[in-house]
Amino acid sequence: MNTPLNTHIAYRDQQLHIESLTVGQIAEQIETPFYCYSKAMLLDNIQTCRDAFGRYGIDIHYAVKANSNLTLLSLIATQGLGVDLVSGGELKRVARAGVPGDSMVFSGVGKTQTELRDALLKGVGRINVESAEELAVLADIAAEMNVSAQVSLRVNPDVAANTHAHITTGTKGNKFGIEPAQAIELMAEYAAHPFLCVDGLAMHIGSQICDIEPYRQAVTRLVDLAQQVIGDDYPVNHLDLGGGFGVDYGDGQALSLESVAQAIAEITESFGGSVSVEPGRFLVANIGMLVSRVVYVKETEPLPFAILDAGMTDLMRPALYQARHQTVPVKQRAESDDVRAYDVVGPVCESTDTFSRGELLPASLAEGELVVFLSAGAYCAVMSNSYNSRTIPAELLVDGDEVSVIRHAITQDALLAYEETP
Ligand code: LLP
Repeated sequence: MNTPLNTHIAYRDQQLHIESLTVGQIAEQIETPFYCYSKAMLLDNIQTCRDAFGRYGIDIHYAVKANSNLTLLSLIATQGLGVDLVSGGELKRVARAGVPGDSMVFSGVGKTQTELRDALLKGVGRINVESAEELAVLADIAAEMNVSAQVSLRVNPDVAANTHAHITTGTKGNKFGIEPAQAIELMAEYAAHPFLCVDGLAMHIGSQICDIEPYRQAVTRLVDLAQQVIGDDYPVNHLDLGGGFGVDYGDGQALSLESVAQAIAEITESFGGSVSVEPGRFLVANIGMLVSRVVYVKETEPLPFAILDAGMTDLMRPALYQARHQTVPVKQRAESDDVRAYDVVGPVCESTDTFSRGELLPASLAEGELVVFLSAGAYCAVMSNSYNSRTIPAELLVDGDEVSVIRHAITQDALLAYEETP
């Protein structure tokens, strides 16, 4: 059986704790499934990130899409990190969380005119533009509003990130970014634009990258491109080197932030402008867990099914990317206790509602028992949905020996209230 995990989520006295509380205690107060996060772990991650990048003067913009809970955003904002956004909805949230406009970067391949207008109204620090078409629309909007916009062009460096195909973004054929040659043309074309200052280049080649080589290669390509643009006498004052830094989901695979920061510092040494990164997962993945209960242990061949009350609607990553989240019982057993292999599934009417196969859990796993998915702070609650008319789970935050609901469960009654019967 896998053993947790980090400084703030660990077994003590055979009970899984998050900070000073047992998960069992928390589950007495709220219906499963629910998400539960550790505030201390978030603050530690922010500090680790700052230590790694700060020493080289690299700015950090948290990729809000990883977890956009307002309370977490406020904590991140209070710690002085900037943010990377991809929608008008995220823009609303970060503004509510108190992030100043000039600490915001707006990314995304399909920003609408309304979203671009809102971004300019809020004084977003930089817009990462992903096509010639978007740049033309932004130019018109800026002129019409009589405001100037700071722009970076997101380049597609055509480097395979060596991660899951569904979360690779920087190769030819991906919808993201602009071809390097076209970026050079656009920098020249917009050099004297009265409302746009196109003086930055950006990239993001994928997520959960655990091999530094492709990342190094992409940064090198971007820096080479910047030198070429500068050589043509156009300014490049900023490089945004994206996120994607892989975390350990229990298989020992991860990217060390120190090595990322060092690689960036080395490759950008001769570049005179500012440099930033956009980590999402690194900051929030290991702060959280999804807590669920066993509904049935269904005896079948070849393996029994542990059927949980959490499903793919609550935690989509296994169904979408064959991702594995360490799965552990809240009540720890003695080393000598028997374990058994289970197929761990949810109740949703889809065969892909399978969390893992052959998962080793206690042989005595019982109906009603609490089972937890670890490292579920990033891309989990944010991707939950109500398929099968299921409740969208609550989110809780633990701070020492206190627990607060930071998002209530979204129930069918709440969802039904939006429907009309004409
Ligand atoms: N910057 C840009 C432009 C991005 O598109 C992303 C993530 C990030 C930064 C942050 O990447 P991170 O450091 O979190 O890896 N739902 C998938 C992940 C999708 C990531 C999308 N873009 C998953 O659950 O694995």
